[in-house]
Amino acid sequence: MAGNQTFTMIKPTAFRKNYAGSIIQLITAAGFRIRAMKLTRLTAAQAGAFYAVHQGRPFFDSLVEFMSSGPIVAMVLEKENAVEDFRTFIGATNPANAAEGTVRKLYGTDLQQNAVHGSDSDENAVIEADFFFSKLERY
Ligand code: CMP
Repeated sequence: MAGNQTFTMIKPTAFRKNYAGSIIQLITAAGFRIRAMKLTRLTAAQAGAFYAVHQGRPFFDSLVEFMSSGPIVAMVLEKENAVEDFRTFIGATNPANAAEGTVRKLYGTDLQQNAVHGSDSDENAVIEADFFFSKLERY
């Protein structure tokens, strides 16, 4: 799947604010095709495992608590140049620095509650998609 797929999550605050439908609409209008999708809630242990690369950073414990605080929508998306295009599409990590019209600018609350996650490399897209989805759950 390297090159044309990425992984995203609509984070708990954005889901709680009922932004999921609007965010998915923007994603598909931008040309990303949904290959897998589920509404689920991470345990703290699962959130810690997903973000293990950030273990030891000052924001890690707070990030784990936040990401396990409510349901998230996980998706595998397909498009040419998916990882890079999706990162451009969602905007900078901090919504305050995100470009106008990006998902994080429109729907993010703050640096942590930044509406959506997007994989940062093809390698991590594979790892993150495999974290949530079996082969049977992809179409
Ligand atoms: P995400 O793209 O999901 O990847 C890691 C997440 O950690 C990031 O979005 C933010 O939600 C959060 N994050 C990154 N840097 C910081 C920071 N300096 N302070 C708080 N949260 C952060």
